[in-house]
Amino acid sequence: MPRYFKVKTIIITVTLLLGMILMVAYFKEPQSAFPTDYFTNTDLKYIYVNREKEENSITPDQESLPPKCEPNMDARKVWNFSSLSDQIQDFLYYRHCRNFPIILDLPYKCGRPNKPIDIFLLLVIKSPPKNYEQREVLRKTWAKERSHNGKKIRTIFITGTEGDGFEKKRLNKLLVLEHKQHRDILQWDFRESFFNLTLKQILFLEWMNRRCPHARFLLNGDDDVFAHTDNMVQYLQSLEDNNGTKHLFTGHVIKNASANRKPNSKYFVPLQVYKERSYPAYCGGAGYLMSGYTASVIYEKSKSVEIIPIDDVYVGMCLAAAELKPNPHIGVRTLAWYIPSKMIDKYDPCFIKELLLIHKFPPAKLYIMWDEVHNPKLKCGVQLLNWWNPFILKSVV
Ligand SMILES: *[C@@H]1O[C@H](CO)[C@@H](O)[C@H](O)[C@H]1NC(C)=O
Ligand SMILES: *[C@@H]1O[C@H](CO)[C@@H](O)[C@H](O)[C@H]1NC(C)=O
Ligand SMILES: *[C@@H]1O[C@H](CO)[C@@H](O)[C@H](O)[C@H]1NC(C)=O
Ligand SMILES: *[C@@H]1O[C@H](CO)[C@@H](O)[C@H](O)[C@H]1NC(C)=O
Repeated sequence: MPRYFKVKTIIITVTLLLGMILMVAYFKEPQSAFPTDYFTNTDLKYIYVNREKEENSITPDQESLPPKCEPNMDARKVWNFSSLSDQIQDFLYYRHCRNFPIILDLPYKCGRPNKPIDIFLLLVIKSPPKNYEQREVLRKTWAKERSHNGKKIRTIFITGTEGDGFEKKRLNKLLVLEHKQHRDILQWDFRESFFNLTLKQILFLEWMNRRCPHARFLLNGDDDVFAHTDNMVQYLQSLEDNNGTKHLFTGHVIKNASANRKPNSKYFVPLQVYKERSYPAYCGGAGYLMSGYTASVIYEKSKSVEIIPIDDVYVGMCLAAAELKPNPHIGVRTLAWYIPSKMIDKYDPCFIKELLLIHKFPPAKLYIMWDEVHNPKLKCGVQLLNWWNPFILKSVV
């Protein structure tokens, strides 16, 4: 069968040739070893290329990328600039920068413009890229997206970028994977750092103003707390005259705190950054609740309040600019908490069952606690709780 033989030879040759071409292409372009929707090259580093264009996932428009923010050289004119640390100098150079490209977006998290989802409580959790374990536990516990008492709870982790080179790529990839699976990550292209937390806060408020203005209430918090979100829903439902359209801002209120002037402190803020002796009243940033209305007021005010690096104080400054006040809620404990006896377990669910929020909780303890506070057989001694638990849910002082 010479003819059949010829065809076979041609097929084999063509296959071999194709194979060689593919091999050459593969080894010439090492990035092709990664999936196509990986962050590809450097000039497109912040474009999450999504080939499938699926609902709910997003390829940010290249045209919508804000221009790169240039350092403000006039920052040097502030008195004694050269005596400030590199970190503070860096902060002053970039203090005016508020627009950063979004890497991972959630455009339909709160529904479509003509079909908004009635989200009752939006959990907005600051989480650095590397805190994967923390996010996973939160998704299984208090930040699980669900309805409670008929009210929708939704979750968003807000984050920047972290690390350099391969490590940065790996962490970005991690967030892409989480974003694909859970649709709960917002990421912007700025460097995660303690000094950039205010920036993160403002970027979120800007996003909310555009994408989620109808959410009734927000929990704004950290990823290392225990937030009793069921209790929060019940508390917020109990506010008879507020469905999210009036002022609400509540948590652990800190009043008349002095600006820290000790250069070695984590919270150091030099006079060149903040002039006043003390801060306006604010809520400790580990977690506080606010209404959608108040979030929009804070966003509007933030446009004219100069950034200071401490995010919770900054939000307090915006509130003060709007002549609004934070209200203390005794169910929120953001400072160190302790139980004055070795006989009593600090992680006894009875201490936590009636609270709104406790700082701070390692992931495994959080996982156990969430299960325990939901145990219908949990029995709490009344005497034990008298001094600790004065009807916390109802008492907004
Ligand atoms: C400027 O910084 C130097 C060194 O830190 C300090 O000794 C000096 O008092 C500062 N000047 C003013 C006006 O604060
Ligand atoms: C904040 O993020 C910007 C953008 O990535 C970066 O240039 C700046 O150094 C960061 N600031 C600090 C204090 O880390
Ligand atoms: C919220 O309450 C206000 C009155 O305080 C009312 O006008 C508004 O219709 C309510 N909104 C919703 C969505 O229930
Ligand atoms: C704030 O604290 C300062 C001292 O640190 C004190 O002099 C001042 O009276 C306090 N103000 C208020 C309103 O408590």
